Amino acid sequence: MKRLAVGVWLAFAWTEQPAGDCGDSDSSHARTHAAVEIAPARLLPPHPHPLDLAGFRRSLDLAASSSWESPSPPQDSNREAAGRRRSSLWWSSLTNRCGRMRGPVRWAVVVVVMAMVEAAAGRFVVEKNSLRVTSPEGIKGKYECAIGNFGVPQYGGTLHGWVEYPKSNQKACKSFEDFDISFKSTRSGGRPKFVLIDRGQCYFTTKAWNAQNAGAAAVLVVDDKSEPLITMDNPDDAGTEHLENITIPSVLITKKLGDDLKKSAENGDMVSVLLDWRESLPHPDERVEYEFWTNSNDECGPKCDMQMDFVKSFRGTAQILEKKGYTQFTPHYITWYCPEAFVVSKQCKSQCINHGRYCAPDPEQDFSQGYDGKDVVVQNLHQICVFKAANESGKPWLWWDYVHDFSIRCPMKEKKYTPECAVHVIKSLGLDVEKIKKCVGDPEADEENPVLKAEQDAQIGHDKRGDVTILPTLVINNRQYRGKLDKSAVLKAVCAGFEETTEPAICLSEDVQTNECLENNGGCWQDRDNNVTACKDTFRGRVCECPVVKGVKFVGDGYTNCEASGIGRCEIKNGGCWKETRNGKTISACSNEVSEGCKCPPGFKGDGIKSCEDIDECKEKLYCQCKGCSCENTWGSYECSCGGKEATSAVGWSFLWVIFFGLVLAGVGAYAVYKYRLRSYMDSEIRAIMAQYMPLDNQEAANQHHVAHAGDDI
Ligand SMILES: *[C@@H]1O[C@H](CO)[C@@H](O)[C@H](O)[C@H]1NC(C)=O
Ligand SMILES: *[C@@H]1O[C@H](CO)[C@@H](O)[C@H](O)[C@H]1NC(C)=O
Ligand SMILES: *[C@@H]1O[C@H](CO)[C@@H](O)[C@H](O)[C@H]1NC(C)=O
Repeated sequence: MKRLAVGVWLAFAWTEQPAGDCGDSDSSHARTHAAVEIAPARLLPPHPHPLDLAGFRRSLDLAASSSWESPSPPQDSNREAAGRRRSSLWWSSLTNRCGRMRGPVRWAVVVVVMAMVEAAAGRFVVEKNSLRVTSPEGIKGKYECAIGNFGVPQYGGTLHGWVEYPKSNQKACKSFEDFDISFKSTRSGGRPKFVLIDRGQCYFTTKAWNAQNAGAAAVLVVDDKSEPLITMDNPDDAGTEHLENITIPSVLITKKLGDDLKKSAENGDMVSVLLDWRESLPHPDERVEYEFWTNSNDECGPKCDMQMDFVKSFRGTAQILEKKGYTQFTPHYITWYCPEAFVVSKQCKSQCINHGRYCAPDPEQDFSQGYDGKDVVVQNLHQICVFKAANESGKPWLWWDYVHDFSIRCPMKEKKYTPECAVHVIKSLGLDVEKIKKCVGDPEADEENPVLKAEQDAQIGHDKRGDVTILPTLVINNRQYRGKLDKSAVLKAVCAGFEETTEPAICLSEDVQTNECLENNGGCWQDRDNNVTACKDTFRGRVCECPVVKGVKFVGDGYTNCEASGIGRCEIKNGGCWKETRNGKTISACSNEVSEGCKCPPGFKGDGIKSCEDIDECKEKLYCQCKGCSCENTWGSYECSCGGKEATSAVGWSFLWVIFFGLVLAGVGAYAVYKYRLRSYMDSEIRAIMAQYMPLDNQEAANQHHVAHAGDDI
């Protein structure tokens, strides 16, 4: 059994897939339960490389686009059974999305299929809502229809309208404008129009988009053959550009009902229909349990983007619901296992952990480059463990913050998809790192990981849920949600899961306020000293974004660092740069002329952030190197005197002033000495002359006279 499954996988890996016809006429194979309508021209091109595992990836994204019915599922739930189920997913990648096998692998698959039918593989549940025809009399009654996996089904509500079958463009593969057809109500108060569209030729989503643009309120796709209802899915690689914008509900109805409706419409009867989603979800009590089956891989194209967009937009709502006890949320992750005989193969080694027990497809489908499947498994495991730790500490809603932050801080694109990066995120959310490390365990060990084992078991359907085979999948009250992954559409569905009249206020109005920055600063960067934080509370939950404070812009990742930048940055905490004051002199490494960074000013060296140190110009012999010079270092400068004569160079203003005053004083002194000596000389000359004519009786009096005279003179 195991060998067969492996055989198929390898056959797939080595088989080029030819483009083929995708009509729905081939019914010799088992029934398709989810389908994507594809125009023949848009079928997958032949794969250029034999090891191209596009299909393998598809088995993750759109796994089991076909699955096989079985009368009674076996009761054993050990690894064997889970493995068989999983191999059915692998196997499904062999089929094209119309559920049919191609070319050379067909025979091998048939053999395996029989083995799997015997083992009772996956059970895919088609989620339904009810449709009531209220007129005309002849076909009045209640019918079932299958909810499409796009658009917005009105969970918990009803929609009443007239049915119209267009005269042309009946498959709605082209714009109705080209045919001059509109379904808009011409008069106010007119009932909305439901458009009847035939299956085939193009994607279901294209049909819905064209009908919506023409003004239809809902789309009823009529199956083109008599068969049990299937789930209409959206394409995973192409034609997704308008997926996000489909807001009307789409349902698939049986060929029989479709034919009856068409006949009545063609007869000119008014066909009135009520679409009812009130019983599509069980709503037994006042708490809704829901699960999100997801994946940490951020590079799988539109499906991964859609998944992340949903986490980002729904996070705030999910956290409010969880905190108030209205919901119990659990995230889940799908893994595969590698058949034992292949545990040592290159493929299994790069895609699996714990010796082939838990695997995920390679993100780029190339084993030789980028991240491997096993990196994805390890990150998925981190996310489950974060949820477990958060749940144990009574704050299960932290999972939303973790997944959101991880996708921003550790993306594959930037080569940050590593366990180390995960640890940074865990720390910033204040979770117990050791506990999570213990839960992750050793990915190289040859043993079970209880957490991933439980996930594999949970993957298998129970009660009404069915196997989870489409990623991402939302399960609400144990039923798979169908419709687009969009905040308001999902909230509507969650709200439909409450017992009537017990819905929380958020179901009635969406503007509920909390401030998530109050606790632990939301795990964002902050500078307490300056009262600056990167945490911003928005209605979608908190975001970590560097702020603008007093006109100064901060830049950084918002989680671990933010730095002031641009004009005025030195006003705030000196732009994060070094600054010191000594003897009334302040020196800073921040300059407003430079938009970022710190630089020590001349005369200092260092990183400019933590420190700038004075350069000892004398010791380093940078300046003042003349013979007989004496050099003295000062803070930020130096003083130099050469051979007794004072010389200046690169010295401060104060020193120049000292020299200036010195020179002035010396000049004044010299002048005074000169004057004094001149006068004493004249004195002695005069005395000598006078002594020749008169005796010197009173020398002192004469002296006094001269001093007084000299005083007048000065
Ligand atoms: C979908 O809607 C968004 C905004 O509502 C718009 O920007 C975008 O162009 C739309 N896409 C298409 C394909 O119409
Ligand atoms: C989370 O915690 C609640 C109560 O503490 C518990 O009932 C629930 O089973 C836990 N969920 C998981 C997945 O461990
Ligand atoms: C910090 O700033 C916020 C607003 O930016 C203000 O409301 C708060 O009072 C400030 N706290 C302190 C301690 O200055």
